[in-house]
Amino acid sequence: FKKIGIIGAMVEEIELLHQHVDKTGSFTKAGITYVEGKFHGRDVVFCKSGVGKVNAAVCTQLLIDAGVDCVLFTGVAGAVDPNLNIGDIVVSSSCLQHDMDVTPLGFARGQIPFQEVSEWQADASLVELALAASERHFPGRSVKGKVLSGDQFIASRDTVRSLYEDLGGACAEMEGAALAQVCAMNEIPYVVIRAMSDKADGSAHVNFAEFTVEASVNSHKIIDDMVQHM
Ligand code: ADE
Repeated sequence: FKKIGIIGAMVEEIELLHQHVDKTGSFTKAGITYVEGKFHGRDVVFCKSGVGKVNAAVCTQLLIDAGVDCVLFTGVAGAVDPNLNIGDIVVSSSCLQHDMDVTPLGFARGQIPFQEVSEWQADASLVELALAASERHFPGRSVKGKVLSGDQFIASRDTVRSLYEDLGGACAEMEGAALAQVCAMNEIPYVVIRAMSDKADGSAHVNFAEFTVEASVNSHKIIDDMVQHM
């Protein structure tokens, strides 16, 4: 890859990029600032998308328009797979919008009507790179799984159980599937890296507040390692 795009949704998720990328320039479009620079000798562009699918979609398209040839997401998520603990890593095998719901018209939950694909596969080589990085830093604490995205903070035991049992998700967050869809529309490879800040249950809001910084550090370590090996 010649130019690597990296997105985080919140300030905690991109803070370490601000600290460690050698900045060469920046530009602002649609209210989002894109920072260009060198990271381990590689050309990167990183930005803070803001929270939610619309922000992530606009941000991803502008990043692609700026010439990146792959997109990495770094950030935190609520664990959906009950085997995951706070701090553990999910590497996206695919992403799905869990809040896309046209079931009254007979479409499956998560399925976008009249569209062939609603679950976008991550790039296999980026996934392997991320899993290898994760095993180096957090052995036995990462899974490759389905990332579920929606414009909702999940904080209920019943909801999180349904995301696991009915949709087969590994974690829940608010941007990945939007990024994945835009990447697919542009034929650009992507992978989403998420460290668990909470378990998307009744304690999620408390855990999120306590563990977001720590989980963001874990996710950044994967990105850092990946870029060194790209
Ligand atoms: N990001 C981190 N935790 C989350 C949760 N429980 N739901 C949605 N997005 C999240």
